[in-house]
This record gives sequence, structure tokens and C-alpha cells, in this order.
Amino acid sequence: MESPRNRMFDRDTFLLGTFASNCSGGMTVTKVPERWQNSWTNNLKLAKLLDAAGIDFMLPIARWIGYGGETNFHGNVLETITWAAGLLANTRDITVFATTHTAANHPVVVAKQLATIDEISNGRIGLNVVAGWNKPEYEALGLTLPDDHETRYGYAQEWFDIVLALWSRTEAFDWDGKYFKLRNVLGDPRPLSPLPIINAAGSEEGRKFAVRNADFLFTPAIDLSRSKDEIAALKQQARDVGRSVEVLTFSHVVCRPTESEARAYLEHFGKANADWEAVDNLVRLQFAHAQSFPHDLLALIRDRMAAGHGGFPLTGTPEQVAQGIVSLHEAGFKGTTLSFVDYVEEFPYFRDNVLPLLEQRGIRAAPQAAPVAA
Ligand SMILES: Cc1cc2nc3c(=O)[nH]c(=O)nc-3n(C[C@H](O)[C@H](O)[C@H](O)COP(=O)(O)O)c2cc1C
Repeated sequence: MESPRNRMFDRDTFLLGTFASNCSGGMTVTKVPERWQNSWTNNLKLAKLLDAAGIDFMLPIARWIGYGGETNFHGNVLETITWAAGLLANTRDITVFATTHTAANHPVVVAKQLATIDEISNGRIGLNVVAGWNKPEYEALGLTLPDDHETRYGYAQEWFDIVLALWSRTEAFDWDGKYFKLRNVLGDPRPLSPLPIINAAGSEEGRKFAVRNADFLFTPAIDLSRSKDEIAALKQQARDVGRSVEVLTFSHVVCRPTESEARAYLEHFGKANADWEAVDNLVRLQFAHAQSFPHDLLALIRDRMAAGHGGFPLTGTPEQVAQGIVSLHEAGFKGTTLSFVDYVEEFPYFRDNVLPLLEQRGIRAAPQAAPVAA
């Protein structure tokens, strides 16, 4: 069967996805009892809801140890390649990304895993490439995180070049690189069309990697006036190397019939009942090893880390949440992920009340009806 071009490339609407539903707590570092349970059952329920509503993609986090605190935030994590395969086998249209740490996964194995899932899903798998930043996690895997970004991204570049070679070359080849020596290797099967590639680097070195290799670069939206300039600069950087890249961000949704209900719930789960010990571990690690968040906005970021892992806050009535999404669109973002304290419980309210407003504003089209079974 011919594989269609992945819909992430075709959509001229503002892309919507979810983030981190494979991880305990999702994007919310909270102790409230209704915090996200990342069981397979819940992920499958969510995927079916999203697919039927015309949501574009699901993005997982690859994580190997939790952040401690009372809840051990992200202590329970479904492995992303197997998770993606299972979800894609059970859905129709949605793209599901796998997230891969280059240092922990051999490129020949990953190339074949993803080519296999491409076949399972008829072209709906994508790849988020992670060059690594979380030092204790590397230690847990018996790996050493290189201190300098040149080495991290130099390794990632060779890793990714091998994956691309396996996905495109039709004759067996040898590889004599700095990090890999391969003999007589061939990728078969190969994906039938290019996979959408995500990278979420924040550092200068990382962003060079992203504009050279990724179709979508993820970056936090902390201050939208900064985002506008950042997006323009990234697009220019991509043009300078003859490529084009779209910029995505991640948002956390608290949508209720009234603004005061939404704000009260945010205060309840994201402040009064935040797992502050886990939040501080997360912030400390981010600031020690990664350059994803602007370091001068620490206080704001600490609150946002608790409420939505640093995501852009979409808090309020459906009208206010829709307006927040429109403002991301106006800043130049191509799309955003969404997260909720309890994705399955809260997404239907968003679907019924916010998606129609986005259609009215012309930034998304209504989902197409499922074909009637013969
Ligand atoms: C949207 C998004 C998704 C990410 N997903 C993961 C992930 O699943 N696993 C991980 O270890 N790091 C993840 N990262 C971290 C980035 O890949 C990157 O290592 C980090 O932002 C640091 O950037 P730098 O390497 O340029 O300093 C993610 C970051 C963002 C913003």
C-alpha cells in the first residue's frame, strides 16, 4: 500500500497535539489525587478521543528516572516507541511521535523500529530526537552525558545521519564515522515517505542541529514578545542553510465555564497542592544541564513548572483559552501541544467548547467525518 505523506506536513491549520500522556503526572507536578495516571488504558482512551476530534499528534516524553518528591513525578513512564506502535495500531488519522535519546538507542535498531511502525500505521509515525541533558538519567543508564553541547550534538548528528542513510539507501553500505563503525548494513523495510522530525534544543549548538535536521523545533513560550523575535530568527537560520523549519510550543490547559473556576483550580493543583520538592528538582536539573528556558525568568518559570512543566498557560473560559491559542498563532507558532491535569476527563470540554471557536477564527478546520465502513 502506498504511504500518504504524513499529515503533519500537509496541514495549513494551526497544529494541535498532546504532550507527555505517557508519563505519570503528565505535565503537572501536583499531589492532587486526580493527577494523570499514565496507564495504557488511559492512553488508549485518550488517543481514540483525540483521533476522533481531529487532533493532529501525540508527543511522548522519554524518561528513565523520576524527579523525586512525594509523587516521584515522571517515575512511571511508558516507553515511547512501543507506546507509539500500540496507539497507531488502534487509531486512524492521528500522528504519534516516538521520542529517542540518541545515546541510549542504537541508530540501526531505531531506524528499523520506526520503519516497522511506519508500515503498521500507514505513515503516521514521527520522531523526536533528544541529544540528552539530564545527567542523573544518563548515570542511571551507565552513560556519561558530555558536558559540552558540541559533543552532544556532534554525536546526535552522526546518529541521525545513519538513520537517514538507512531510510534512503537501497544498497548495503559501510559507515566509518567518529562514533560508529558499521559493516554491510541496509535498512529494509524503509519508510515509504519522510517522517516528521522534531527537535527541542534550546542551546546555540542544539538549534544549529535543529535547523539542519528537524521539520519542527519546539521551544517554550514564556513571553510572547520574545517568541516573535525568536521564531523569526530561527526561520531565518533555517533559510540560511537552505531549509525551512516550523516552530511549535507546549501549553497547559485549565478550561472551565468561568474564569474564577479555572483560576481557583489552577491555584489548587498548581500552588496549594504542587509537589514543590519535585518542582525544585526539575528546575535545578533543567538549569544545570539544559538551556531550554531563559535563565532570567526563574521565579515565573518555577510556578509554570508546577502547573504545566513550563508550558504556556491557557487558563480561563473557552473564549479565553481560544484567545490564548490565537495569540500563539499570531506570535508565529505553527502549533502547540496541550496538556491537562487529567487529559481524558478534561479534553472533551475543550473539544466541545474551544475547538469550534478556533474553527470560527479560521485557524483550524472542522475534523472530517470518519468514512462509513463498507
Ligand atoms: C517540547 C520538548 C520535548 C522534549 N522532550 C524530551 C524528552 O522526551 N526527553 C528528554 O530527555 N528531553 C526532552 N526535551 C529536552 C530537549 O530535547 C533538550 O535536550 C533540552 O531542551 C535542552 O536543550 P539543549 O540540549 O540545547 O541544552 C524536550 C524539550 C522540549 C522543549
